[in-house]
Amino acid sequence: MEIKRIAVIGAGLMGTGIAYQAARFGIEVNLNDIKQEFITNGMNKIKSMVKTGVDKGKIDLKAAKSIVDGIKPVLDVAEAVKDVDMVVEAIFENMEVKKELFKKIDAAARPDTILASNTSSLSISEMASVTSRPEKFIGTHFFSPVPAMKLVEVVVGDKSSDETIETAIAFSKKLDKTPVKVKDSPGFIVNRILIPVLTEAVKILQEGLASAEDIDTAMSLGANFPAGPLQLADFVGLDIARATAETLERGFGACYAPPKLLVEKVDKGELGMKSGKGFYEYK
Ligand SMILES: NC(=O)c1ccc[n+]([C@@H]2O[C@H](COP(=O)([O-])OP(=O)(O)OC[C@H]3O[C@@H](n4cnc5c(N)ncnc54)[C@H](O)[C@@H]3O)[C@@H](O)[C@H]2O)c1
Repeated sequence: MEIKRIAVIGAGLMGTGIAYQAARFGIEVNLNDIKQEFITNGMNKIKSMVKTGVDKGKIDLKAAKSIVDGIKPVLDVAEAVKDVDMVVEAIFENMEVKKELFKKIDAAARPDTILASNTSSLSISEMASVTSRPEKFIGTHFFSPVPAMKLVEVVVGDKSSDETIETAIAFSKKLDKTPVKVKDSPGFIVNRILIPVLTEAVKILQEGLASAEDIDTAMSLGANFPAGPLQLADFVGLDIARATAETLERGFGACYAPPKLLVEKVDKGELGMKSGKGFYEYK
């Protein structure tokens, strides 16, 4: 099936990025969140992404208008998903909340609609199990910032059909991304490798061995990381990093557990760039 209309559920960092990228490549988007103000904030983020695209010469004014016009804010989730080819979920990284949402989506969407999750690490097969269409369920794991990052991990659940996999691959390519296929397993490819790197950096800080700046400088200059691991954790969101580490811990054992300092920061509401403070402060 060619994907022409989608619903993006969750108008946060990833949902707005996915909505922007889809609209940029001519896909109509319904953008949903739990509160009108969150959708409005999301639309404002999209407008500023459009402005950046214009300022950098990546899109012209006509394209800018068609991106904004192509994204419709829809507060009611049933309304948002009722007549689309694909739903991409990008809400909090919490299995129970995602399952509750997918039950609602499954009840309201057309039988042929593909359901996709942008989860960073959680089981696609488990989410699919609460729907009546596990063969039409798949992971499409985009990376942040969505317009710039070229990868999509297409996460194949136990029951994802070949047609669903092919559709997700074609959808990713249409959005100018490079898809890789991976079987459902905690953290998939990137986060299984990346999150332990970030949590080791937090442990070095927690143990008082080096400052945040020196840890980041070390990995930038010594391992050629484009951003230091603590800067990257702030950018990804410390809540997301913690939740992903917890998923890896459940899947692979205690050595993957989020370090105490990371847990404490999330509990204090220090979530990184999005809250203004993480390992660094942001104005
Ligand atoms: N942050 C990253 O770098 C990154 C990268 C790849 C994947 N992800 C994954 O993408 C998902 C979203 O992450 P994010 O960073 O965009 O989070 P975020 O906190 O920026 O945004 C989440 C949004 O979902 C909304 N939401 C929560 N429950 C909802 C519901 N029931 N219905 C509709 N909206 C709801 C929230 O109000 C919020 O606006 C997570 O699963 C995360 O693991 C994140």
